Amino acid sequence: MRRPMVAGNWKMHGTRASVAELIEGVRRQALPVDVEVAVFPSCLHVAQVVEGLSGLPVMVGGQDCAVEASQGALTGEVAASQLRDAGCALVLVGHSERRLLLAESDEWVVRKFAAAQSCGLVPVLCVGETLAQREAGETLEVVGRQLAAVIDACGVAAFGRAVVAYEPVWAIGSGLTASPDQAQEVHAAIRAQLAAADAEVAQGVRILYGGSVKAVNAAELFGMPDIDGGLVGGASLNADEFGAICRAAGS
Ligand code: 13P
Repeated sequence: MRRPMVAGNWKMHGTRASVAELIEGVRRQALPVDVEVAVFPSCLHVAQVVEGLSGLPVMVGGQDCAVEASQGALTGEVAASQLRDAGCALVLVGHSERRLLLAESDEWVVRKFAAAQSCGLVPVLCVGETLAQREAGETLEVVGRQLAAVIDACGVAAFGRAVVAYEPVWAIGSGLTASPDQAQEVHAAIRAQLAAADAEVAQGVRILYGGSVKAVNAAELFGMPDIDGGLVGGASLNADEFGAICRAAGS
């Protein structure tokens, strides 16, 4: 049985004061014991969140890492090893906002995935198609290519220490959620692609859905056989809403 995971991606939000409030809000939540919970603050707030949530079964992750795992001369970047040192357990790689707005290539995503694992961080590999790609019938091809880049470079066994997040770009921050059937179709394809290389790894890997997940739609999405939880953006900035989404993933 895969343990569900609910992760909050706080994106480029927060001040020290608002992050302190959010920490307090998360601390007040009744979190289900059978769900793994994680939050991804901006790297500026990682230390504050690690300290603020200490003692709680909530992991902290970075939203991105450099292609080089170790420290070095790379102005403005944050190394996976530095995230680990700061108390992170996970890191997002390949979020569509970075792929599309910052032109991050599959090759870069692969290097970040490998850098994360080399430091003991669990990479959360984000994949997903744009609206134009979905309308052109290219969804499975696009997602398959993004996944294949990592399988080919890092090997399928690497997914024994990774999480995949399917986030259709058209559903992110738009209020448009993929229907449970639309999401399930892609999640099943992702698992099948991994299974073609290693059935056991495929059965164990968590595949999260992201894109306008809210308390009202979470249970239905999480009820699908290949949806193992959610990667939540906007709704994770409200602790009560986030707590409700976490509970929706519990049994
Ligand atoms: P929203 O939940 O705001 O649509 O964002 C999803 C997302 O991009 C999480 O990484």
